[in-house]
Amino acid sequence: MPQIVILAIESSCDDTSAAICIDGKVVSNLTANQKIHEQYGGVVPELASREHTKNIIPVVEAAMKKANVTNSDISAIAFTRGPGLMGSLLVGGMFAKSMAQALNVPLIDVHHMQAHVLAHFIDEPMPKFPFLCLTVSGGHTQIVLVKDYLNMEIIGETLDDAAGEAFDKTAKLLNLPYPGGPLIDKYAQLGNPLAYKFAQTNVDGLNFSFSGIKTSILYFLQKELKSNPDFIKDNLNDICASVQHAIISILIKKIHKAATELNINEIAIAGGVSANSELRKQLTEVGLNNNWNTYIPDFQYCTDNAGMIAITAFHKFQKNMFTSLNIPIEARLLM
Ligand code: KG4
Ligand code: ZN
Repeated sequence: MPQIVILAIESSCDDTSAAICIDGKVVSNLTANQKIHEQYGGVVPELASREHTKNIIPVVEAAMKKANVTNSDISAIAFTRGPGLMGSLLVGGMFAKSMAQALNVPLIDVHHMQAHVLAHFIDEPMPKFPFLCLTVSGGHTQIVLVKDYLNMEIIGETLDDAAGEAFDKTAKLLNLPYPGGPLIDKYAQLGNPLAYKFAQTNVDGLNFSFSGIKTSILYFLQKELKSNPDFIKDNLNDICASVQHAIISILIKKIHKAATELNINEIAIAGGVSANSELRKQLTEVGLNNNWNTYIPDFQYCTDNAGMIAITAFHKFQKNMFTSLNIPIEARLLM
């Protein structure tokens, strides 16, 4: 039996990533992060596209070298079709299409958020269907009912900001560089999560809202800075711990509600914010109390990576779900 060797490319935002998957095993997964955005407090789309054009060839070559794979071994090329930043997606998409045409191998398009969920099928333990996945990233916050590898339904999502965005926008208010999520997580380890309370917008059902917290933090800081210009510096750990506590409580409350209503006890988290230590800890604790089997991805598969694109493409390959070279890239692709 010939092996199924997939080269996958992810370039939806500010990470340029390439992975090789052989018969369903991710054997290399390499990512070039873009430091250039740190100083701007967020991703600058034009700069992200330019960095992708610089990084894509070296990253693909390194991923192939690490997996000991040459052009003639490749069975298919996969890429993130959307959602994401148009210029960023175009760099990875056009590269994948060109390479598929040059090597005369099939092309596989992958949905970025579906791939975050399927990151759970890279390594053991793997969730059993049906399971719920709280998918939390810089652009999305969703509860996904996963019925099968390629059959998913969004049963709840944010009405405004994403959870990662709430972390990053708060970090900007605290004068921390982008992306602020990992830094808030770091400072929060040394702070008191109950030091400050922030107003939350209550949303019915399984949807989320994070814009209220962001505004509440902004007003709180403006008030405190008036009486103490060093307020942020003096209380950074407590502020971070309290903000993190507020965001994670909303996430945990909603996934608990979904699990109870749907009577499902296979619960997973995915996306960049699933790297958050408090979310990982609380999910494990709540899971133990509720007899859930919980699934938390390895750090390298939480934030954007091509390994998750490769595993999704492997499942599509087995179903002959190939795509034509003229499929459009979609910045706002629906699941
Ligand atoms: O999935 P991802 O890499 O990219 C998107 O698809 O958006 O997620 C990036 C997001 C950013 O908002 C970043 O701040 C957040 O994930 N993030 C974290 C942590 N690590 C990454 N947020 C909180 N705590 C972390 N440890
Ligand atoms: Zn992502």
